[in-house]
Amino acid sequence: MNNSSPVLVTGGAGFIGSNFVLDWLSAVGSPLVNLDKITYAGNLQNLVAAETYSGYSFERGDICDAGLLHRILNHYAPGAVVHLAAESHVDRSLLGPGDFVQTNVQGTFCLLECVRAYLERLSPARRAEFRFIHVSTDEVYGTLSPGDPPFTESTAYAPNSPYAASKASSDFLVRSYVHSYGFPAITTNCSNNYGPFQFPEKLLPLMIANAVAGKPLPVYGDGRQVRDWLYVGDHCAALRLVLDRGRVGETYNIGGRNEQTNLDTVRLLCALLDELLPESPHKPHEGLIQFVADRPGHDRRYAIDAAKIERELGWRPAETFATGLRRTVEWYLANRDWMEQVMSGAYQHWIDRNYAARGAANQ
Ligand code: NAD
Ligand code: DAU
Repeated sequence: MNNSSPVLVTGGAGFIGSNFVLDWLSAVGSPLVNLDKITYAGNLQNLVAAETYSGYSFERGDICDAGLLHRILNHYAPGAVVHLAAESHVDRSLLGPGDFVQTNVQGTFCLLECVRAYLERLSPARRAEFRFIHVSTDEVYGTLSPGDPPFTESTAYAPNSPYAASKASSDFLVRSYVHSYGFPAITTNCSNNYGPFQFPEKLLPLMIANAVAGKPLPVYGDGRQVRDWLYVGDHCAALRLVLDRGRVGETYNIGGRNEQTNLDTVRLLCALLDELLPESPHKPHEGLIQFVADRPGHDRRYAIDAAKIERELGWRPAETFATGLRRTVEWYLANRDWMEQVMSGAYQHWIDRNYAARGAANQ
């Protein structure tokens, strides 16, 4: 893309989005427009540092609103879109799939249509430079058995949750636009991210918040499910590389080659908290682990083969799980006011709704 044109980021006030926006502004520094609806998962507090950059603009709105999208595209004339806006939590998709179909499928369709119309108005030179990065997930591939090879870009799609199915649908729409219209999209499928600004409905920040408060740590089922963790900053660096040098029409798997069972992850976290909070009355934090009813249809194992992005774009994660997890725990301990703010109000309603049915005590 041409660096003088802004990049339009959707969902830039969420977990990965806010990390991407801050990373972009400090590493690249060229103009960026953030379009976000500010659902329960969006938080403008994450972006206070972005406000100091003159090239940063924020627009509050819904990717399902075609009129708004046309206005934003015409007004800012972006040279690229990085599409992160989504409903992202699997447990919420099980209790209410409608929002997932609306934003992830209908919203992506609306965005594709508006960008397609916008591209028709661009000069051939600008159109040739334009890129649309569709940020997706490894969950579209379904689940692996213990001895299976990791997911590659040619693994067949087999989504198992409404969340995964809605993301798979959006991936198929993007693929069809590439093939039918020559739409300049690239799709990325990434494994589990962790790091600063993650909403504490997801495993790691939820466990940190509960452990600090001396509340039970609700591990689903037997805790032997495997996830392939990647530090969010490494995902952001990968997205920048894909935008810069990825091949149009291709998909790239992104992952940390870092498979861990949930139980091992929670135990590692507890050991870190014991070390970083030596005065805590809740030590050893591992004693707070409580096994609760499993997630329905819970995928047993995810693992990403990241060979293609490593080979083609030279991407490698900078953080190991040990360094990334320490950074992450230190960030949450240093930002307890952020935690308290996001956990007020509607958050408690979600915790009651999700965990009471699992037989979790004292949430
Ligand atoms: P998140 O839930 O933290 O943030 C989503 C953001 O999108 C929020 O700021 C929200 O306000 C915004 N949003 C939701 N609906 C919108 C709408 N209709 N219009 C405009 N904005 C809307 O999600 P995240 O974890 O940061 O994930 C970002 C993207 O990355 C998603 O597409 C997700 O599927 C994908 N992804 C996430 C992970 C992960 O581990 N978190 C891994 C791989 C891929
Ligand atoms: O793999 C990429 C995906 O990773 C992204 O596409 C999703 O947006 C993101 O939410 C994440 O999905 P998971 O379902 O893997 O993440 P979550 O943090 O919800 O759960 C991680 C694992 O921990 C999973 O096996 C379920 C388990 N878990 C989760 C919670 C919230 C628990 O055991 N207890 C919990 O309380």
